[in-house]
Amino acid sequence: LGLFTLDPGFKATASCTSNITFIDGEKGILLYRGYPIEQLAAKSTFTETAYLLMKGELPTKQQLNDFNGLINKHTMVHEQLLNFYHGFRRDAHPMAIMVGVVGALSAFYHDSLDINNQQHREISAIRLLAKIPTIAAACYKHSVGQPFIYPDNSLDYSSNLLRMLFGVPSEDYQVDPVVAKALDKILILHADHEQNASTSTVRLAGSTGANPFAAISAGIGALWGPLHGGANEAVLSMLEEIGSVDKVPQFLKRARDPEDSFRLMGFGHRVYRNHDPRATVLRKEAQKVLDAMDKHDDPRFKLAMELERIALEDDYFIKRKLYPNVDFYSGIIESAMGIPTNMFTVMFALARCVGWITQWKEMIVDPDQVIGRPRQLYKGLARREYKPMSKR
Ligand code: CMC
Repeated sequence: LGLFTLDPGFKATASCTSNITFIDGEKGILLYRGYPIEQLAAKSTFTETAYLLMKGELPTKQQLNDFNGLINKHTMVHEQLLNFYHGFRRDAHPMAIMVGVVGALSAFYHDSLDINNQQHREISAIRLLAKIPTIAAACYKHSVGQPFIYPDNSLDYSSNLLRMLFGVPSEDYQVDPVVAKALDKILILHADHEQNASTSTVRLAGSTGANPFAAISAGIGALWGPLHGGANEAVLSMLEEIGSVDKVPQFLKRARDPEDSFRLMGFGHRVYRNHDPRATVLRKEAQKVLDAMDKHDDPRFKLAMELERIALEDDYFIKRKLYPNVDFYSGIIESAMGIPTNMFTVMFALARCVGWITQWKEMIVDPDQVIGRPRQLYKGLARREYKPMSKR
């Protein structure tokens, strides 16, 4: 029994070495390839950040143009892939559709699934990055019964996504630049976060030699949970449940009660023990978007601010170092943009896709990489003899 160390939740185990993303949880620092998240959110674009994550350096103008051109070349999905959507019930959760459709991509690219072939890995990575907005938007279109909108490659990544989500064939859709910029920022902030549950799932699935589409589909499944990417959806449901500022103390009491399973969604983080730098950026951005959209009196935002204020003065939260995380504000901004609550986690998956691909690619070429296979401490019965049914 003493051969292995018990570490449930891997609180004290590093599963790999990595050069991609750095987090200092005590200081609230997040760096992609060495660059602070605040600077990337303020100055970069999502595809530039995607290039940085995937290639390790910021691109030159020419490199970024070529990269955007390559993404544009692959934004469409195979027409037969669209048939998958029709097999899902109209009321299916968009994440259920996303897990299935992304996994199904493996059925379309047999010619480039050799994980030991660098060109195959590169083209799979670009395909995922390019097609994921098209796939995500189609999840939404299916749920509202509208026709799928094909990508428009004259638009940037986030504008294209907005048009595929909200455009209809009968009207010319005008992208609001404030909304597109805010969405781009949300995508940058969610692009990678080192060895979180979904990324570790991608690496674990990928460590078996599974193809990248299968590995990333596994990651999407892991992200769906309310303790991880599903938290943004849960925050909005919670705000609706709380309803008004005067009910906040009653819900905080529930969050403090060890007998009550209720948790303040969008609060707390395994690594950040001071503040989540992504939440700090999004808090300001939320105000900007609500102002620009003339929704500054949004009751959910007011409630969220009040909840944050009261919780941060509460001993229970102070003692446990529980601060708002990225999911606390992303849902409010996305909701102001008109994105429905059940699409929030899909948006997270879409943004994290580049992180998953980059981590998967790093893992495949890591000489120390072996199949991920945790052990256990067995606490069941010792050996015993099979009893015939007449003697049980
Ligand atoms: N509300 C109330 N109490 C909490 C909360 C919360 N949101 N988070 C943690 N606690 C308490 C927990 O009950 C425990 O108390 P005690 O020591 O008395 O037993 C203590 O704080 C430590 O919590 P933990 O569950 O051991 O911490 P963890 O590092 O295992 O969990 C977490 C981290 C993010 C799962 C957790 O804080 C949580 O459930 N938060 C709400 C869900 C959420 O917002 N998730 C999004 C995370 S950020 C984005 C992402 O990863 O996708």
